[in-house]
Amino acid sequence: GTAQIGVTGLAVMGRNLARNFARNGYTVALHNRTASRTRELVEQFGDEGTFVPAETAEEFVAALERPRRLVVMVKAGAPTDAVIDEFAPLLEPGDMIIDGGNAHFADTRRREAALRERGLHFVGTGVSGGEEGALNGPSIMPGGSAESYASLGPMLEKISAKAADGSPCCTHIGPDGAGHFVKMVHNGIEYADMQLIAEAYDLLRHAAGYEPARIAEVFRGWNAGRLDSYLIEITAEVLAHVDAATGKPFVDVVLDQAEQKGTGRWTVQIALDLGVPVSGIAEAVFARSLSGHAGQRAVGRGLAGPTPSPLAADEAEAFAAQVEQALYASKLVSYAQGFHQLQAAGAEYSWTLDLGAIAGIWRGGCIIRAAFLDRITAAYAKDPALPSLLADEGFAAELGAAQDAWRQVVATATRSGIPAPGFSTALAYYDALRAPRLPAALIQGQRDFFGAHTYHRVDRDGVFHTLWSDGRVEERQS
Ligand code: 6PG
Repeated sequence: GTAQIGVTGLAVMGRNLARNFARNGYTVALHNRTASRTRELVEQFGDEGTFVPAETAEEFVAALERPRRLVVMVKAGAPTDAVIDEFAPLLEPGDMIIDGGNAHFADTRRREAALRERGLHFVGTGVSGGEEGALNGPSIMPGGSAESYASLGPMLEKISAKAADGSPCCTHIGPDGAGHFVKMVHNGIEYADMQLIAEAYDLLRHAAGYEPARIAEVFRGWNAGRLDSYLIEITAEVLAHVDAATGKPFVDVVLDQAEQKGTGRWTVQIALDLGVPVSGIAEAVFARSLSGHAGQRAVGRGLAGPTPSPLAADEAEAFAAQVEQALYASKLVSYAQGFHQLQAAGAEYSWTLDLGAIAGIWRGGCIIRAAFLDRITAAYAKDPALPSLLADEGFAAELGAAQDAWRQVVATATRSGIPAPGFSTALAYYDALRAPRLPAALIQGQRDFFGAHTYHRVDRDGVFHTLWSDGRVEERQS
């Protein structure tokens, strides 16, 4: 065969990735379960590069040069296993199957181990940036063996987005499921970012009385500063948009029930297993879930709220700047939590994750791309062993400068009866980390009282239990 890469599964993501490879000069073999889709792609876009359409699995495999590189772009879950079962028997040792879908990293680990036994490389690869990114340059997060990356990496780097400094938004993340894990956390952070932006909008609208068009202006202003990011930019566009059918702000005609396909939920599920407090991502997932419970919300509409105390005109003016501080600080906290999860996963699964490089490849192409990511890369460059992003002097100083406004915003939200779970949980996390003593000591006391669950002391090593009937302290064998 002559094709350097093949793509099977030609729905919009697969089609656009195939075109991206072709536009970059690679010969691309094409395959789809329904062959008409393959023919359509060649008819419409054949002049963009060199395509080798294949009708059958055998033809497709034969079209590929060796070692074969076969990109699978089908729905995560059972369809991915079905495609692997179809192609693996046709492949030879050293060939690579690249899964570019939003697979669960545990599935990727399982598939990688099974295919490794047969001498095949399975490369679970996170791809972010939606349809547009797939075509013009996504952020790419490949896992799998170093050997597979040596062969595949240069091609992926070539089709990836480029950061402002020209570097590719693609790097070898680590073995087996590391790529899909990192994509999952990317999505969790995406959920947190979206929730925080939504809370900022809600507060400007309902505590300060701004209209959507004015909030769009505020966001455009923020986008010229340290919050410069794709999500802030598109939010301004969504808020400025007027529904053609009704003439109303678009945001007022959309049903307020947020949906989700599962990657944010996975991030939280795994964080619970790893014991990492990703409270910002968790609140974002719960906020979407709550929004969809129409029955519970109908009950809530009968519950009492605070007496309205709208902000005075001058307060409303100043409020936007405070909300910017709260948004930035909360965002910083949710990134610190997400990176803590990556750190913990690296230790748990024996991956050597380069956290600075991961922030680096999120600078372009992906949904959370933002100027801010450069700062994260710089923080890890300065100290690769940084225990938390909040330990970075620059970030700590920014949080210190933001905290007064951040507290004001959370207080205003509380006083006004406007839910701000993302802002609130981020501030609680910040204050919990700061606290010299946490009431966890009391919880240990309660556990020891009702269940003799024992506790550690601040003044002596060892494991202790108090005999609560007479106050005597017993030392236990640990
Ligand atoms: C990306 C996106 C993408 C997915 C969103 C939507 O990085 O390009 O993350 O993978 O479309 O995660 O997810 P929800 O439907 O769960 O909001």
